[in-house]
Amino acid sequence: MKNIGILFGQENTFPQAFIDRVNTKKENNIKAEFVKINMVEQGEAVPYEVIIDRISQDIPFYRAYLKNAALNGSAVINNPFWWSADEKFFNNALATKVGVEVPKTVLLPSNEHPPDTNEISMRNLEYPLDWESIFNYIGFPAFFKPFAGGGWKNVYKVNTREDFFNIYNSTGTLVMMLQEEIDFTDYFRCYCIDRREVRIMQYDPKQPHHLRYVKHPKPIERLLLKRIENDVLKLNNALGYDFNTVEFAIRDGVPYAIDFGNPAPDADLHSVGEDNFEWVVEATANMAIHRAKIHKEGINNLTWGNFVTTFANNQILRSNKSKNEIMYDD
Ligand SMILES: Nc1ncnc2c1ncn2[C@@H]1O[C@H](COP(=O)(O)OP(=O)(O)O)[C@@H](O)[C@H]1O
Ligand SMILES: [Mg+2]
Repeated sequence: MKNIGILFGQENTFPQAFIDRVNTKKENNIKAEFVKINMVEQGEAVPYEVIIDRISQDIPFYRAYLKNAALNGSAVINNPFWWSADEKFFNNALATKVGVEVPKTVLLPSNEHPPDTNEISMRNLEYPLDWESIFNYIGFPAFFKPFAGGGWKNVYKVNTREDFFNIYNSTGTLVMMLQEEIDFTDYFRCYCIDRREVRIMQYDPKQPHHLRYVKHPKPIERLLLKRIENDVLKLNNALGYDFNTVEFAIRDGVPYAIDFGNPAPDADLHSVGEDNFEWVVEATANMAIHRAKIHKEGINNLTWGNFVTTFANNQILRSNKSKNEIMYDD
């Protein structure tokens, strides 16, 4: 028997629907259930060939449990090692290498020294920063947000230098990025499952939470949809996420990737709506079944981004924006 488990937090609709969907498919020797955890012993396998992880970002104990499970062959979705290393500045940098447009972005040192460090710890950093170049490059208005994070926490729109410094002075030890504002006409949020299934959803981030998924979306040009789909696939294949959402802001017909490291994206029936919910339940169930079928005992069954393999082969990823394709150095 191959077991598929789901590890989850406060959400109430997706986990049960996922399990029911897998089980109603009645695949030979495959069943799904809620993950059960008790004593966690180093180096010991857990009884799940596949684990869908929806919560380890908030529960470090679970993240460690999942790494140990992965080492013993569980296909953990998403890869807990990569998820632990992931942050938005790197993701943006990677986007520039795979030919996906992202807003101009710079990384800034935290306003205060990290705990137990002082200015001597950071002598490599030139002081003051070259603010003139930074502001000229990014322009105003700009977005100012943490290099790792989510849920719109500490995301600010800044209109002037004064605005920027006022907020910067309140960000403490957070590492922040300053980012060009994309003044968008349309905004999309896209599920990407198994690095091949893409669901493009019109989304209005300016609405209150429960109204953000647009109920009666207007028609979108086919070419734009195709480009979005391609960009979603490029990003998720580079990052190695099997379950993710990617957000795009559209300016002058060009999709700019804004937020694309959401490895436990909202999948609640009440926020995404019935059709999107049905899609994500079905796609995730199919992915989990597929991963259970191809699971092999005693090997690493995780997904790694193709950029990792590229590095492992001592190749450098080069962007080629004009051709919009990936090139590799031998
Ligand atoms: N560069 C940008 N240009 C325009 N809008 C942005 C930009 N960055 C963020 N936003 C807006 O702020 C929201 C939250 O920012 P986001 O990067 O998604 O942070 P989080 O990961 O916390 O959700 C986005 O959904 C978008 O509406
Ligand atoms: Mg976001």
